[in-house]
Amino acid sequence: MALFQLTINGQTKEVEADASTPLLWVLRDHLKMVGTKFGCGIAQCGACTVLLNGNAIRSCQLPVSAVGNQKVTTIEGLSDDGSHPLQQAWVEVDVPQCGYCQAGQIMQAASLLNQNSNPTDEEIEAVMNGNICRCGTYLRIKEAIKLAVKNA
Ligand code: FES
Ligand code: FES
Repeated sequence: MALFQLTINGQTKEVEADASTPLLWVLRDHLKMVGTKFGCGIAQCGACTVLLNGNAIRSCQLPVSAVGNQKVTTIEGLSDDGSHPLQQAWVEVDVPQCGYCQAGQIMQAASLLNQNSNPTDEEIEAVMNGNICRCGTYLRIKEAIKLAVKNA
């Protein structure tokens, strides 16, 4: 066990954990931030997506020891009050079905818009491709991303 100091959603958090513990479990089990979901555990579904310095990563595959002083953003920290353009567009388009994959989808989309403020359909598809939705909400996800771009 070791003590790690992490910057999560702009706040400093201290956690004692095994160095190999995936960030996902530090978030969920140690810090009780359960917005980030566990799907596959092998970086294949995107349910656990969070931002590291603004870029999407699969938190199920990132050991806590590799985070260092990089800035972690989870769905809880995307905005204080649900006012992020993606969150508003998600509500307007009524994207979720069961909802399980949606935090990961939104964080992946946030990463896309951080890097490309006006993506084409092809660019949206390429970046969102690795985030699986068992309910098949893909068309609404794409529509919401385009609405967020328009409203940003
Ligand atoms: S739980 Fe991390 S990618 Fe599936
Ligand atoms: S909304 Fe159910 S898995 Fe995506």
